[in-house]
Formats: sequence, C-alpha cells, structure tokens
Amino acid sequence: MYLACSNKYHHKEMSKTKITINNNGSVKDDGDFEIVDVNGNAYGLQGRTIVSLCRCSRSANKPFCDGSHKGHFEHEAIAFDLPPKKV
Ligand code: FES
Repeated sequence: MYLACSNKYHHKEMSKTKITINNNGSVKDDGDFEIVDVNGNAYGLQGRTIVSLCRCSRSANKPFCDGSHKGHFEHEAIAFDLPPKKV
C-alpha cells in the first residue's frame, strides 16, 4: 500500500503485519514488526520478516517457537469477534 504524498517523487510504503494463530502451535508474525522485551529492548531478528512466537510455553528459546509444541499443545484457532470495546 502506498500513501498519498505531496511530493509526487516521494512515496512512503506502509506495510501491514499479519499475525496468524496456528492450530496446535505458534503465532506466526509476518511483515514489518519489532519484538521487544519488557524494557523495550529489541530482539535481534537478523533481517527476518517472518518469525513464530511460542504460545505453548514449552519452547527452550522463548519467546520464539522451537517446535516443542508438537504433540503437547492443542488449540484449534478459529477467528471470532471480541465484545464491543468499552468507552
Ligand atoms: S508454540 Fe512452538 S514451542 Fe511453543
């Protein structure tokens, strides 16, 4: 997606991050994102634009998935709507 810009020679690309909740496993993050710890320090992703984050708590490489969920974590990820946001 490209944003309109007053300078016709300058375009800023706006990217979107896609987060996929995998069945029985990780959360896949794909796009332009940053992962930080509680202090705001970024994990060095070495140029990766796709990573899988652990949501089963079994990974020895948290917060990243190391495949340890296989056969030990069950959750069928079916999208649903959250209740209306409270204002
Ligand atoms: S989701 Fe893969 S190790 Fe936890």
